[in-house]
Amino acid sequence: MRHLFSKCLPLLALVPSVASQTLGSFQEVLGGNENLTSFASFLQNYTDIYGALSWSRDFTLLAPSNDAMDRIPYTSLSTVFDSADRDAIGAVLQYHVLSAIRRTEEVSSNLQFFPTWLTNATYANVTNGQRIGLVQQAGDVLIAVSGGGARSTVTSRNIQASNCMIHVIDNLLIPPLPFTASAVQFNLTAIAGAFEAADPTDYVSTASDVTIFAPNNEAMQAIGGTLQNLSSTELASLTNYHVVNNSVLYSSAFGNGTTLTSRSGQQLTVRVGGNRLFVNSAQVIQQDLLIANGVIHVLDNVLSPNASAAAPNLEVGTQAPVVQGSAVADVPFTTFLPCTTCTTETSSSATATTTMRTTSSTAQGASASRTGAAEIRRPNGLSGALGLMAVAAALV
Ligand SMILES: *[C@@H]1O[C@H](CO)[C@@H](O)[C@H](O)[C@H]1NC(C)=O
Ligand SMILES: *[C@@H]1O[C@H](CO)[C@@H](O)[C@H](O)[C@H]1NC(C)=O
Ligand SMILES: *[C@@H]1O[C@H](CO)[C@@H](O)[C@H](O)[C@H]1NC(C)=O
Ligand SMILES: *[C@@H]1O[C@H](CO)[C@@H](O)[C@H](O)[C@H]1NC(C)=O
Ligand SMILES: *[C@@H]1O[C@H](CO)[C@@H](O)[C@H](O)[C@H]1NC(C)=O
Ligand SMILES: *[C@@H]1O[C@H](CO)[C@@H](O)[C@H](O)[C@H]1NC(C)=O
Ligand SMILES: *[C@@H]1O[C@H](CO)[C@@H](O)[C@H](O)[C@H]1NC(C)=O
Ligand SMILES: *[C@@H]1O[C@H](CO)[C@@H](O)[C@H](O)[C@H]1NC(C)=O
Ligand SMILES: *[C@@H]1O[C@H](CO)[C@@H](O)[C@H](O)[C@H]1NC(C)=O
Repeated sequence: MRHLFSKCLPLLALVPSVASQTLGSFQEVLGGNENLTSFASFLQNYTDIYGALSWSRDFTLLAPSNDAMDRIPYTSLSTVFDSADRDAIGAVLQYHVLSAIRRTEEVSSNLQFFPTWLTNATYANVTNGQRIGLVQQAGDVLIAVSGGGARSTVTSRNIQASNCMIHVIDNLLIPPLPFTASAVQFNLTAIAGAFEAADPTDYVSTASDVTIFAPNNEAMQAIGGTLQNLSSTELASLTNYHVVNNSVLYSSAFGNGTTLTSRSGQQLTVRVGGNRLFVNSAQVIQQDLLIANGVIHVLDNVLSPNASAAAPNLEVGTQAPVVQGSAVADVPFTTFLPCTTCTTETSSSATATTTMRTTSSTAQGASASRTGAAEIRRPNGLSGALGLMAVAAALV
């Protein structure tokens, strides 16, 4: 690729007045960047998207550096690339394109989500395309947040081509998996299993545009005895109370006193106390985990449709559970997950945006237990390919 354009350089050098006024085309800028040679030659094999990038206007490409391309075998995308699954790779490439020009100066210290070209429902069942999170952290470090809590750092900014903006990133962006597979990545296996137990149609993974408030395993375990004794109707009512359907609500949508209607019909109330965010009386302990069909916010307590009026003491974090009950020794409901015989692996993939509204540099190591991660629903597309993935190391 580069040798093609090196021919152009002497010519441009002869006419500096023209060159300084005229921005290079997408192909020229990409092909002429020393850090993008691998991506540039890779992209040319994907003529649909390469053509679209060449002829479209007003988009932003987050272009993986040569280092990022070299690292693919060590990331969760390795199986997708190993198997040369063109559809899935095409989806990964679309996920690297923001649907508008975004200069890095626009990125603030509050995590914000920007739509991408990844709109195919097989890979991203969210209206207007799957989002990428962008946040500016201390020390002018710019981070792109994608699926599984993966984080990529912007290493070169605001490279302008005639039709688009390019930022170079040091790791590929990972398209998020549907709810159940994502929940397993984030060790939210109890609530994921409870959803499966209550609803064999797997609404939470197959519906578009869902917001899911997911109690962590500790919260589910603390009242596991009570939960396991609920009838299937009661359990469905409880799990549906953790879902806002047909609406992807990133944390930026939450104000103090925001009320939401859950899928079970009862209201949820969001409250803010200092840096803490609560849903009813449960504290949000991880916000904005992207999933293929929406977003997850992690809670430290289980919500109950019978206690929709529960309000927190805004001065303290963890509140008393609203569901009374006895703890169980094992993480409940995990036997309802689609695969229970898979090998257990742990990964060090990072989790983004953990703490509250303070935003910057709040990444915490996410311990992603992959128990049962394989063969989670939809065998097609990314979730199939990624469900069988190798350990998602090296994403940090
Ligand atoms: C390539 O990347 C290196 C290291 O990140 C950087 O110093 C250099 O300026 C980059 N080159 C271009 C053309 O952006
Ligand atoms: C492009 O595709 C051809 C044929 O499938 C393959 O041999 C080649 O390695 C690919 N090039 C890149 C850069 O992926
Ligand atoms: C969406 O992706 C699936 C699986 O790769 C593919 O079969 C289908 O044609 C795609 N749909 C569109 C509209 O591109
Ligand atoms: C996307 O969501 C729609 C509406 O909820 C649903 O009918 C469809 O099956 C979903 N598609 C996939 C591929 O999950
Ligand atoms: C669950 O139901 C069993 C059988 O009815 C009962 O013995 C047990 O005490 C119940 N556990 C809880 C926590 O309610
Ligand atoms: C809600 O209250 C009803 C009536 O007391 C009870 O039968 C049901 O188990 C409760 N549901 C949950 C999820 O606690
Ligand atoms: C959410 O789901 C419930 C139950 O299926 C349904 O009655 C309601 O219309 C849905 N809400 C929206 C906004 O689609
Ligand atoms: C949120 O509202 C409550 C009650 O209206 C109030 O006590 C609290 O200070 C508010 N929080 C913030 C951050 O303003
Ligand atoms: C997942 O959650 C369970 C239950 O709280 C906990 O015992 C376990 O250590 C967690 N696993 C990881 C990998 O964090």
